[in-house]
Amino acid sequence: MTGANRGIGAAIAQGLAERGMTVIVGARDAASGEQTAQRLGGRAVPLDVTDDGSVRDAVAHVEQWYGRLDVLVNNAGISGGGVGQLAGDVDLAVMRTVFDTNLFGVVRLTEAFLPLLRRADDARVINVSSGTGSLTWQSDPGHAFASTGVALAYPASKAALNMLTVLYAKALAADGIAVNAVAPGATATDFTAALGLSLERTAEQGAAIAVHLATVPDSPTGAFLQDDGPVPW
Ligand SMILES: NC(=O)c1ccc[n+]([C@@H]2O[C@H](COP(=O)([O-])OP(=O)(O)OC[C@H]3O[C@@H](n4cnc5c(N)ncnc54)[C@H](OP(=O)(O)O)[C@@H]3O)[C@@H](O)[C@H]2O)c1
Repeated sequence: MTGANRGIGAAIAQGLAERGMTVIVGARDAASGEQTAQRLGGRAVPLDVTDDGSVRDAVAHVEQWYGRLDVLVNNAGISGGGVGQLAGDVDLAVMRTVFDTNLFGVVRLTEAFLPLLRRADDARVINVSSGTGSLTWQSDPGHAFASTGVALAYPASKAALNMLTVLYAKALAADGIAVNAVAPGATATDFTAALGLSLERTAEQGAAIAVHLATVPDSPTGAFLQDDGPVPW
């Protein structure tokens, strides 16, 4: 899984390890990834989702170690920060950076690991999206998002990720690979702290829906889910 060294990703990794899964901790920072893997009894691979070579090396390691991949968790994500995302002041470089990680990173990982996912029985891809990517919620004047700031890049990247989820779910149905998106909910991590948010929801709580989808016996596919059920697209 990607971005597994801290935040919601580390909590997903922990939840999966606690349920008996062998977790491969993908992390940009090799030392931090090794530390997490040691704590969980798993293995670590250096992994930057924006780097083709890094992803290729990670696939080679997983193939050599296990010969297949049961679950790919695309968790790595960035907000892009508070600058260059507001209408009238958009910096395309910021948009590209956010999309490169949050959207193209997911395509890069999914494409690269597809051969190993195809070798697993009941394989799954879990894309960590966000409620901010819901077109329904964003366009509802009665929703809490109506009164929050309108940063363009991050929600747009997650809306695109949701579409990607639906399309991959259809494309991979014949291979028996389930593809779903999850909304962790507003969770206290470095990500939200950097945006000045003070939140009570723990990383473990934010991770729960991804852990559930990775381990539930009969996975749905093509869904966008939070703890209590579907998120409207
Ligand atoms: N926190 C929330 O309230 C919330 C709500 C909805 C959705 N989400 C989503 O949940 C996911 C995790 O967020 P978080 O709150 O846990 O954030 P976080 O604490 O900032 O952690 C982000 C993780 O992503 C990794 N990452 C970033 N860019 C990467 C890249 N290019 N390659 C590989 N790894 C990369 C980071 O690695 P480094 O340690 O190397 O930086 C880190 O492990 C994101 O997709 C986010 O959009 C979060």
